[in-house]
Amino acid sequence: MTFFQSLTYDHEILDNAAGTLVSLVKSMNNGAEVINKISQLINFFQNYMIEYHIVKEEWLINELIGMQIPADHGPLYYYNFEHKEHQKQIDNIKKHLVDENKREALLSLTLKFCTDLWEHIDKENSVLFPESEKVIGAAKTSRLNKHLEENNNMYDKVLKQICIEIIQQYPPVISLPESIRGDGCTSCRFYDGRCNGIELEWWSDYQWEDLFERE
Ligand SMILES: [Fe+2]
Ligand SMILES: [Fe+2]
Repeated sequence: MTFFQSLTYDHEILDNAAGTLVSLVKSMNNGAEVINKISQLINFFQNYMIEYHIVKEEWLINELIGMQIPADHGPLYYYNFEHKEHQKQIDNIKKHLVDENKREALLSLTLKFCTDLWEHIDKENSVLFPESEKVIGAAKTSRLNKHLEENNNMYDKVLKQICIEIIQQYPPVISLPESIRGDGCTSCRFYDGRCNGIELEWWSDYQWEDLFERE
Protein backbone atom coordinates (compact mmCIF):
# COMPACT_ATOMS: atom_id res chain seq x y z
CA MET A 1 0.00 0.00 0.00
CA THR A 2 1.40 3.43 -0.94
CA PHE A 3 1.58 6.35 1.48
CA PHE A 4 -1.44 8.13 -0.02
CA GLN A 5 -3.45 4.89 -0.21
CA SER A 6 -2.75 4.27 3.47
CA LEU A 7 -4.09 7.71 4.44
CA THR A 8 -7.29 7.15 2.46
CA TYR A 9 -7.69 3.68 3.94
CA ASP A 10 -7.24 5.09 7.47
CA HIS A 11 -10.02 7.55 6.70
CA GLU A 12 -12.47 4.76 5.84
CA ILE A 13 -11.91 3.22 9.27
CA LEU A 14 -11.90 6.57 11.12
CA ASP A 15 -15.10 7.66 9.36
CA ASN A 16 -16.90 4.50 10.49
CA ALA A 17 -15.30 4.55 13.96
CA ALA A 18 -16.70 8.07 14.55
CA GLY A 19 -20.17 6.88 13.47
CA THR A 20 -19.91 3.86 15.76
CA LEU A 21 -18.82 6.07 18.66
CA VAL A 22 -22.04 8.07 18.20
CA SER A 23 -24.12 4.84 18.09
CA LEU A 24 -22.48 3.62 21.29
CA VAL A 25 -22.85 6.89 23.20
CA LYS A 26 -26.52 7.03 22.18
CA SER A 27 -27.05 3.55 23.68
CA MET A 28 -25.05 4.03 26.87
CA ASN A 29 -27.88 2.90 29.12
CA ASN A 30 -27.11 -0.61 27.91
CA GLY A 31 -24.47 -0.82 30.60
CA ALA A 32 -20.87 -1.75 31.25
CA GLU A 33 -20.18 -3.53 27.97
CA VAL A 34 -21.07 -0.43 25.94
CA ILE A 35 -18.92 1.76 28.19
CA ASN A 36 -16.06 -0.68 27.72
CA LYS A 37 -16.42 -0.50 23.91
CA ILE A 38 -16.46 3.31 24.04
CA SER A 39 -13.19 3.22 26.04
CA GLN A 40 -11.65 0.91 23.46
CA LEU A 41 -12.70 3.23 20.63
CA ILE A 42 -11.33 6.27 22.44
CA ASN A 43 -8.09 4.35 22.88
CA PHE A 44 -8.17 3.69 19.12
CA PHE A 45 -8.65 7.38 18.32
CA GLN A 46 -5.79 8.34 20.64
CA ASN A 47 -3.32 5.70 19.56
CA TYR A 48 -4.24 5.18 15.92
CA MET A 49 -5.61 8.52 14.79
CA ILE A 50 -3.58 10.97 16.89
CA GLU A 51 -0.34 9.07 17.28
CA TYR A 52 -0.19 7.32 13.93
CA HIS A 53 -2.53 8.71 11.25
CA ILE A 54 -2.01 12.39 12.09
CA VAL A 55 1.74 11.82 12.45
CA LYS A 56 1.74 10.48 8.87
CA GLU A 57 -0.17 13.58 7.74
CA GLU A 58 2.43 15.73 9.48
CA TRP A 59 5.15 14.09 7.38
CA LEU A 60 3.21 15.21 4.31
CA ILE A 61 2.54 18.70 5.68
CA ASN A 62 6.27 19.09 6.48
CA GLU A 63 7.19 18.12 2.92
CA LEU A 64 4.76 20.78 1.65
CA ILE A 65 6.14 23.40 4.02
CA GLY A 66 9.58 22.54 2.63
CA MET A 67 8.19 23.52 -0.80
CA GLN A 68 7.35 27.00 0.56
CA ILE A 69 3.63 26.26 0.88
CA PRO A 70 2.48 28.47 3.76
CA ALA A 71 1.40 26.97 7.09
CA ASP A 72 0.68 30.20 8.98
CA HIS A 73 -2.59 30.69 7.07
CA GLY A 74 -4.74 28.84 4.55
CA PRO A 75 -5.43 25.09 4.31
CA LEU A 76 -2.25 23.82 6.04
CA TYR A 77 -2.88 26.12 8.99
CA TYR A 78 -6.42 24.79 9.40
CA TYR A 79 -5.45 21.13 8.96
CA ASN A 80 -2.96 21.58 11.82
CA PHE A 81 -5.50 23.55 13.85
CA GLU A 82 -8.06 20.76 13.51
CA HIS A 83 -5.52 18.08 14.44
CA LYS A 84 -5.01 19.89 17.75
CA GLU A 85 -8.77 20.22 18.15
CA HIS A 86 -9.20 16.45 17.69
CA GLN A 87 -6.82 15.85 20.61
CA LYS A 88 -8.76 18.25 22.86
CA GLN A 89 -12.07 16.65 21.86
CA ILE A 90 -10.80 13.14 22.65
CA ASP A 91 -9.47 14.29 26.04
CA ASN A 92 -12.82 15.88 26.80
CA ILE A 93 -14.83 12.82 25.79
CA LYS A 94 -12.56 10.68 27.97
CA LYS A 95 -13.15 12.97 30.98
CA HIS A 96 -16.91 12.95 30.54
CA LEU A 97 -17.10 9.18 30.12
CA VAL A 98 -16.14 8.51 33.75
CA ASP A 99 -18.89 10.77 35.15
CA GLU A 100 -22.40 9.32 35.05
CA ASN A 101 -23.91 12.78 35.60
CA LYS A 102 -22.44 14.09 32.36
CA ARG A 103 -24.14 11.81 29.83
CA GLU A 104 -25.88 14.64 27.97
CA ALA A 105 -22.68 16.63 27.65
CA LEU A 106 -20.88 13.48 26.53
CA LEU A 107 -23.39 12.99 23.71
CA SER A 108 -23.08 16.56 22.47
CA LEU A 109 -19.25 16.38 22.60
CA THR A 110 -19.35 13.12 20.65
CA LEU A 111 -21.70 14.54 18.01
CA LYS A 112 -19.43 17.57 17.57
CA PHE A 113 -16.32 15.37 17.35
CA CYS A 114 -17.98 13.15 14.75
CA THR A 115 -19.23 16.01 12.54
CA ASP A 116 -15.87 17.82 12.74
CA LEU A 117 -13.95 14.66 11.93
CA TRP A 118 -16.20 13.81 8.97
CA GLU A 119 -15.71 17.32 7.59
CA HIS A 120 -11.95 17.08 8.14
CA ILE A 121 -11.82 13.72 6.33
CA ASP A 122 -13.86 15.07 3.39
CA LYS A 123 -11.52 17.99 2.84
CA GLU A 124 -8.35 15.94 3.22
CA ASN A 125 -9.68 13.39 0.73
CA SER A 126 -10.87 15.99 -1.76
CA VAL A 127 -8.28 18.78 -1.32
CA LEU A 128 -5.12 17.95 0.65
CA PHE A 129 -4.35 14.51 -0.79
CA PRO A 130 -5.12 15.11 -4.49
CA GLU A 131 -3.48 18.56 -4.50
CA SER A 132 -0.39 17.21 -2.72
CA GLU A 133 -0.08 14.29 -5.11
CA LYS A 134 -0.07 16.72 -8.02
CA VAL A 135 2.73 18.94 -6.71
CA ILE A 136 4.93 16.83 -4.49
CA GLY A 137 6.97 14.96 -7.10
CA ALA A 138 8.48 11.47 -7.26
CA ALA A 139 11.40 11.92 -4.83
CA LYS A 140 9.25 13.18 -1.96
CA THR A 141 6.56 10.59 -2.66
CA SER A 142 9.08 7.78 -2.45
CA ARG A 143 10.47 9.26 0.80
CA LEU A 144 6.94 9.18 2.25
CA ASN A 145 6.43 5.60 1.03
CA LYS A 146 9.69 4.60 2.72
CA HIS A 147 8.72 6.34 5.99
CA LEU A 148 5.49 4.37 5.92
CA GLU A 149 7.25 1.04 5.39
CA GLU A 150 9.58 1.77 8.32
CA ASN A 151 6.78 2.82 10.68
CA ASN A 152 4.00 0.38 9.81
CA ASN A 153 4.15 -1.68 12.99
CA MET A 154 2.10 -4.55 14.42
CA TYR A 155 0.59 -2.44 17.20
CA ASP A 156 -1.24 -0.34 14.60
CA LYS A 157 -2.64 -3.49 12.97
CA VAL A 158 -3.91 -4.78 16.34
CA LEU A 159 -5.64 -1.46 17.10
CA LYS A 160 -7.20 -1.39 13.64
CA GLN A 161 -8.49 -4.95 14.04
CA ILE A 162 -10.08 -4.17 17.43
CA CYS A 163 -11.76 -1.12 15.92
CA ILE A 164 -13.07 -3.04 12.88
CA GLU A 165 -14.63 -5.65 15.20
CA ILE A 166 -16.39 -2.95 17.26
CA ILE A 167 -17.70 -1.31 14.06
CA GLN A 168 -19.11 -4.67 12.91
CA GLN A 169 -20.73 -5.28 16.28
CA TYR A 170 -22.16 -1.74 16.64
CA PRO A 171 -22.93 -0.35 13.16
CA PRO A 172 -22.06 3.33 12.70
CA VAL A 173 -24.55 6.11 12.16
CA ILE A 174 -23.99 7.21 8.56
CA SER A 175 -25.41 10.70 8.75
CA LEU A 176 -26.27 13.30 11.38
CA PRO A 177 -28.58 16.31 11.06
CA GLU A 178 -25.70 18.52 12.29
CA SER A 179 -23.34 17.25 9.59
CA ILE A 180 -23.13 18.54 6.02
CA ARG A 181 -20.70 16.48 4.00
CA GLY A 182 -19.10 17.44 0.71
CA ASP A 183 -15.97 17.84 -1.35
CA GLY A 184 -13.76 20.86 -1.86
CA CYS A 185 -12.92 24.01 0.03
CA THR A 186 -16.44 25.42 -0.22
CA SER A 187 -17.69 22.69 2.19
CA CYS A 188 -15.15 23.75 4.84
CA ARG A 189 -16.25 25.69 7.92
CA PHE A 190 -13.23 28.02 7.57
CA TYR A 191 -14.14 29.04 4.00
CA ASP A 192 -15.92 32.07 5.38
CA GLY A 193 -13.21 34.71 5.18
CA ARG A 194 -10.75 32.91 7.44
CA CYS A 195 -9.43 30.81 4.55
CA ASN A 196 -9.76 31.72 0.87
CA GLY A 197 -9.44 28.16 -0.43
CA ILE A 198 -6.63 26.14 -1.96
CA GLU A 199 -6.23 28.08 -5.21
CA LEU A 200 -5.88 31.53 -3.64
CA GLU A 201 -3.99 30.44 -0.53
CA TRP A 202 -1.64 27.88 -1.95
CA TRP A 203 -1.21 27.81 -5.71
CA SER A 204 1.89 29.35 -7.26
CA ASP A 205 1.89 31.26 -10.59
CA TYR A 206 3.25 28.11 -12.20
CA GLN A 207 0.25 26.07 -11.04
CA TRP A 208 -2.18 28.64 -12.44
CA GLU A 209 -0.36 28.63 -15.79
CA ASP A 210 -0.34 24.84 -15.82
CA LEU A 211 -4.03 24.50 -14.88
CA PHE A 212 -5.47 23.21 -18.16
CA GLU A 213 -2.68 20.70 -18.76
CA ARG A 214 -3.13 19.22 -15.28
CA GLU A 215 -6.93 18.92 -15.41
FE1 LIG B 1 -5.96 15.24 9.31
FE1 LIG C 1 -6.74 12.41 8.04
